[in-house]
Amino acid sequence: MKNNNCIIIIDFNSQYTMLIFKMLRKLKVYCEIHNYSDISVNKILNINPNGIILSGSSHSVLNNGPLISNKIFNINIPILGICYGMQLIVKILGGDVENIYDCQEFGLSRILVKKYSKLTNNIYDRVDSKGYLFLDVWMSHSDVVTKIPDNFSVIASSDKCKNAIIANEKNRIYGLQFHPEVSHTKCGTNLIKRFAFNICNCIPNWNITNISTIINNNINNLVKNNDKVILGLSGGIDSLVTAIMINNVIGKRLICVFIDNGLLRLHEYELVIQLSKSFNLNIIFVDAKNKFLNALSNIYDAEEKRIVIGKIFIDIFLEQANNFSNVKWFAQGTIYSDVVESKNKIKSHHNVSGLPKNISLKLLEPIKKLFKDEVRELGLKMNIPYDILYRYPFPGPGLAIRIIGKVKDSLCKLLRLADKIFIEELKNSNFYYRIDQAFTVLLPIKSVGVVGDCRKYDLVLALRAINTSNFMTAKWVKIPYNLLHKISSRILNEISEISRVVYDISDKPPSTIEWE
Ligand code: XMP
Repeated sequence: MKNNNCIIIIDFNSQYTMLIFKMLRKLKVYCEIHNYSDISVNKILNINPNGIILSGSSHSVLNNGPLISNKIFNINIPILGICYGMQLIVKILGGDVENIYDCQEFGLSRILVKKYSKLTNNIYDRVDSKGYLFLDVWMSHSDVVTKIPDNFSVIASSDKCKNAIIANEKNRIYGLQFHPEVSHTKCGTNLIKRFAFNICNCIPNWNITNISTIINNNINNLVKNNDKVILGLSGGIDSLVTAIMINNVIGKRLICVFIDNGLLRLHEYELVIQLSKSFNLNIIFVDAKNKFLNALSNIYDAEEKRIVIGKIFIDIFLEQANNFSNVKWFAQGTIYSDVVESKNKIKSHHNVSGLPKNISLKLLEPIKKLFKDEVRELGLKMNIPYDILYRYPFPGPGLAIRIIGKVKDSLCKLLRLADKIFIEELKNSNFYYRIDQAFTVLLPIKSVGVVGDCRKYDLVLALRAINTSNFMTAKWVKIPYNLLHKISSRILNEISEISRVVYDISDKPPSTIEWE
């Protein structure tokens, strides 16, 4: 996606990079994250960004930490180094970084502004009686800059860290030892704002109108006159928004395929048919329940399930594409977090990593650069109903990764019902929109129960409900006991094959959101 008003973030594997990204996007500045290992000066020049941010890192510049070419300092693009990013600037430009135990800081720190800089001018949290300005910032560093490079000045210092903010105003290179992207740094947004707007001269134009114009132009440029596009529609918001965007540009040359893999939520078919009608989408329905369930019948391992499911999906799309002339494109509703999560290689999300290398169709992923909240904003503009826009995410491999171990149709039926009850009760109690994702999981164990005078030995179901802003970290939700009780009573009464309900109280990390 070309946008000549952009900041690139070079990531040195920092846990906070996504926060910098979100901060910029909130300021309506288009930005992209590039891992240090994938970016070169030529690539940067090709993107032609207004500014570059070098992220923090868990590594040390003193211990073979990741590097960047020194040429980035010669291309006349403003640079802001954060923590490790600042230490890297210092190291490359001839200053010194040392590991000094007494200088380490973890947590809140107060820094004193000592000198004017364009980055910090008029930004402060406190003024003391003598008129000195202070910032309250979040530090997390073992190494410290002990000598700044030539042509740099010290802008602010803490008691432990003499070089907390440094600047080379002439070359527009800045370094912050602390993390402006973390909410504990109160002035963080103002500093990033100052860098983006006053130093990089960005315009806050990353708004929904511009986003949809850029996406439309992209689709228009890529998909030529007679080309057709095939797209997998699920009941999810990402594929729906993708379909509507493409449909707006090429109309009936878009062929949407909805595959029932037997692993869907209850009434998904009806929902997708109704949505495709209301948005005038050209849709084909494929019943592939048996194909998927047969292929899964002897698989226990979650990653294997993902791979098998992803492969059958692709086979079906390619088969369908062959039924039409001129299908040149395979469209997917991939979004930014899919790409980032896949890069982390925690789980293979099949819409990112599962495509065969020699696929004959070209890949069209119009919303790949967007975050979920941006996709929702686009969806709102398209008049997608609120309850669809804010539906909980549902993984591509569906119920297969929520039935731990072996997947069977009979278990899918039970899980579908249990899930329906859980969601229904969250909605009835107005809890639904206070949670970011909730679902049920069937465990591969049985537990003793009693009905009347009889002992029964039946299935165990887990409830999972989390709050998250980006699905990369999550906290379990403290659903009130009386609501949990109502949910478990309904499940145990209405589904006789389940004898026990448990509630998952695990945060991510160390757990993931899904159980598999
Ligand atoms: P985890 O379990 O990795 O989940 O913490 C993060 C988010 O991703 C969803 N998820 C998936 N989505 N294919 C998908 O399309 C998958 O294989 C997959 N695994 C997890 C999960 O539901 C959560 O929203």
